[in-house]
Amino acid sequence: MQTYILGIESSCDDTSAAVIGNTKILANIIAGQEVHKNFGGVVPELASRAHLQNIIPVVDSALKTAGIGKKQLSAVAFTVGPGLLGSLLVGTSFAKSFSLGLGIPLIGVDHLQAHILAHFIQNNEENKPVPKFPFLCLTISGGHTQIVRVDSHLKMKLIGKTIDDAAGETFDKAAKIMGLPYPGGPAIDELAKTGNPDRFNFPKPNISGLDFSFSGLKTSFLYFIRDELKSNPDFIEQNRNNLSASIQNSIIKILLDKLKDASKITGIREIAIAGGVSANSVMRKRLSETGLAFGWKVYIPEFQYTTDNAAMIAIAGYFKFLAGEFSGQSILPYARSQNN
Ligand code: KG4
Ligand code: ZN
Repeated sequence: MQTYILGIESSCDDTSAAVIGNTKILANIIAGQEVHKNFGGVVPELASRAHLQNIIPVVDSALKTAGIGKKQLSAVAFTVGPGLLGSLLVGTSFAKSFSLGLGIPLIGVDHLQAHILAHFIQNNEENKPVPKFPFLCLTISGGHTQIVRVDSHLKMKLIGKTIDDAAGETFDKAAKIMGLPYPGGPAIDELAKTGNPDRFNFPKPNISGLDFSFSGLKTSFLYFIRDELKSNPDFIEQNRNNLSASIQNSIIKILLDKLKDASKITGIREIAIAGGVSANSVMRKRLSETGLAFGWKVYIPEFQYTTDNAAMIAIAGYFKFLAGEFSGQSILPYARSQNN
C-alpha cells in the first residue's frame, strides 16, 4: 500500500515542502531566503516573515510536482524543533490547519532525527544501500554537532555533542572573519580547493570523551588574522585560499578524530554523516578514506539532502506514521534540542 506524506520544513531560513510515497521522494521544493544575505547571518524576524510568504506556494508546488492531490495524503509531517521559534511556528501552524482541514494525522518531527533519517530516502537509484542498525551518525549542521547511536529508525541515543559552537557555525564565523558571504561553508569549501591545508596550523581542542569544542579554534583563527593584519593589511586577500583550506582541515580533523573514538568505544563500524556540513567536499572524501582505513561501511547522504530540506521531514514522518506516532493539535514547537 502506498502511504503519501506531505513534509514541511521551516526551522531556519529555508521554506521547504516534500511529498513522499512510502520511502520514495516524489517532490522536494525548497525556497531559500535572499533577505539575509546582507546581514551576515539569519535574521529571525525576517525569516519568519519570509516563511509566511513562501509556505503556501511551496506546498502547492510540491503537491503539483508530485502529482498528488490533497485528498490522497495519508498524513502531514512538520519540523517541530529545534530551530528558530518564529520560523517553526509558521510550519507548525500551517501543518496543524492542514491536518485539521483534511482530517488526516499530524506528525511532529525532530529536525536532527530527520537529518539522520535522510539516509533512508530512496530516489531514482533502486535498492540504494542504507545503514544497518546500530549505526553511528555524525550530525554536523549550522546549529548542532552530535554523534548519535542509531538503534532503529526512531530509537536514537546521543553519545557526543559540542559544548560550545557547532561545526557549521565555525565555518560560518571563519568566513565572516574573512569577509565572505553567509553561509560560509560552501564559500570556504570552494576557496579551499586551491589552497594548502597545511599552510597554517591552529590548536586542536583537548576535550575528553566524545564531546566537541570549536570555540577555541574560532578564537585562535580570529586572533591569528588580527595579528597578521597589523603588519600586512592585505593578509586576508593574499591568503584566502590557504586560510580556507587550513581552517577547513582543522574542523574536519576534529570531527573525524572523535568519530574514530566513537567507533572504537562502541565497536560500531556502520558510520554515517548528516547535516549541512556533510555537503563539504573534503569532509566527504576524508570520511571515505577513513572508512577504508578503519574497515567502516560509510554512508554519505546525497548532496541534495545534506542541507535543510523537507524530504527528510517526510521520510521521518513516514517512519512515525508506520509506528503510529501521531501528534495532537496541542503540540508546541521547541527552540532547543530535546536530547541534551
Ligand atoms: O543542516 P543545515 O542546512 O542547517 C541547520 O540545521 O543548521 O546546515 C547549515 C550549515 C551552515 O553552517 C553552512 O555553512 C554549512 O551547513 N554548510 C557547509 C557546506 N554547505 C553548507 N559547510 C561546509 N562545507 C559545505 N560545502
Ligand atoms: Zn538542519
